[in-house]
Amino acid sequence: MTAASGPRTRVALVTGALGGIGGAVTRALLDQGLGVVVTDLDGDACRAAAEGFKHGSTTGTAVGHPLDVTDPDSWQRVTRFARRRFGHLDVLVNNAGTLGIHGLESCTPQEWDRVVDTCQRGTWLGMRAVTPCMRSAGGGSIVNVSSIYGLVGSGAAFAYHAAKGAVRAMTRAAAVELAPAGIRVNAVSPGMVSTAMTAAVPQEFMSEVIARTPLRRAAHPDEVAAAVRFLACGTASFVTGTELVVDGGFTAL
Ligand SMILES: NC(=O)c1ccc[n+]([C@@H]2O[C@H](COP(=O)([O-])OP(=O)(O)OC[C@H]3O[C@@H](n4cnc5c(N)ncnc54)[C@H](O)[C@@H]3O)[C@@H](O)[C@H]2O)c1
Repeated sequence: MTAASGPRTRVALVTGALGGIGGAVTRALLDQGLGVVVTDLDGDACRAAAEGFKHGSTTGTAVGHPLDVTDPDSWQRVTRFARRRFGHLDVLVNNAGTLGIHGLESCTPQEWDRVVDTCQRGTWLGMRAVTPCMRSAGGGSIVNVSSIYGLVGSGAAFAYHAAKGAVRAMTRAAAVELAPAGIRVNAVSPGMVSTAMTAAVPQEFMSEVIARTPLRRAAHPDEVAAAVRFLACGTASFVTGTELVVDGGFTAL
């Protein structure tokens, strides 16, 4: 049994919720009637965004709280806040991420640390922080946002490939380890999505990726959020240790 199947209001914590995909995930979970803890680096912006999300939803409740996913103390504070505010935590969406564009030779140790700390270590710290709450509630659901760059190479973004590949591996390892506690762990691996992250990518590179994508476009963040919502909620109650690739067919070629 998972806590996500119970009659009480289910509660999710979304990281990087001020970003394109995090915002879309927050709206999708609110539409399902979940309470959402809206987290990102800037606490005031999270609280303001939570007010906005609440006005846009007729069902769920949103509250904002700062979280730096690379900091274990920050995770302690936000899980304590979620427990105080809602009494329990059923869903974690490890979405926060940052891109590094350099290849194997030009990637600096600083870029490596920034990208791996956020995407890989942050995902581990998040799973580690919420597990006690979920265990005591009898279960829960974790969705880690990886990337198709965890599956294929690109000729650049070496640290990002390394970190997103690790997210896929950690997802499977955690799914096996946490299954006895009723905690499901899955990943979503998007292809190119139109957000602030890709707005910083050179247009030429974007056009090349889109030309190689069978559906011939980038995804809208809502299309990624739909996959996250499916895995997060009770409809995926027998799904764990797997990933949904949301890439318009890019990796099918
Ligand atoms: N946009 C894409 O094409 C794409 C493709 C594949 C995977 N992804 C992944 O999707 C996720 C969301 O990306 P997005 O496109 O919405 O990017 P985005 O830049 O719009 O949002 C990322 C958010 O993460 C937050 N963040 C960064 N470092 C953080 C930290 N240490 N602690 C807490 N929050 C932090 C940022 O403040 C930002 O709000 C990321 O993990 C990204 O790697 C994106």
